[in-house]
Amino acid sequence: MRYQRVAQPPPEAHNVEQLKEAAASCQACDLWREATQTVFGEGAEHARMMLVGEQPGDQEDLQGKPFVGPAGRLLERALDEAEIDRRRVYVTNAVKHFRWTRRGKRRLHEKPNAGQVRACRPWLEAEIEAVKPRIIVLLGATAAQSVMGPAFRVSKQRGEVLSSPFGIPVVATVHPSSILRATDDESREAAMSSFVADLRVAARNA
Ligand code: URA
Repeated sequence: MRYQRVAQPPPEAHNVEQLKEAAASCQACDLWREATQTVFGEGAEHARMMLVGEQPGDQEDLQGKPFVGPAGRLLERALDEAEIDRRRVYVTNAVKHFRWTRRGKRRLHEKPNAGQVRACRPWLEAEIEAVKPRIIVLLGATAAQSVMGPAFRVSKQRGEVLSSPFGIPVVATVHPSSILRATDDESREAAMSSFVADLRVAARNA
């Protein structure tokens, strides 16, 4: 199937492969113009656990895969510590194009705005519908607010099993890049162990 300039998941796309193919030509917001490619979710076809990040970063944009850069390596370590096999989960993002600004030769991450998150939500919904996970882990505020609404605060409800508008329970936690930004070893270790504890809560409910 060839899709040209779609803005929504086409009704004939039912599984992740078909959705990924369709999303490759998505122009529902302006981010496709500056990004290298759509970075769709990937992982086990009917994973019990789905992890949702914010948006692809520089490495993800170049490689076309979610969570393959520094935040992805930290996530992998945390999953390992929580005894969760990454090959058995499904990993995706709330927004599927990289939003960035140029600083010299570097492309710096810029947070997606509310309109961009909204435009991308049908793809996330379609992924959830296709994968049918038992639990969804929301990594950071963008993912959490995309699913739970703009008033949701990760700081208030992290690590709790909550019901979501999708009818699938969710656990919200921090984004792994916030752990990378910790300024000293002690706070980094504390942030990592809280993150791993949240992932364990999700695993117990998967
Ligand atoms: N940060 C995210 O939120 N997602 C990725 O895929 C990479 C970094």
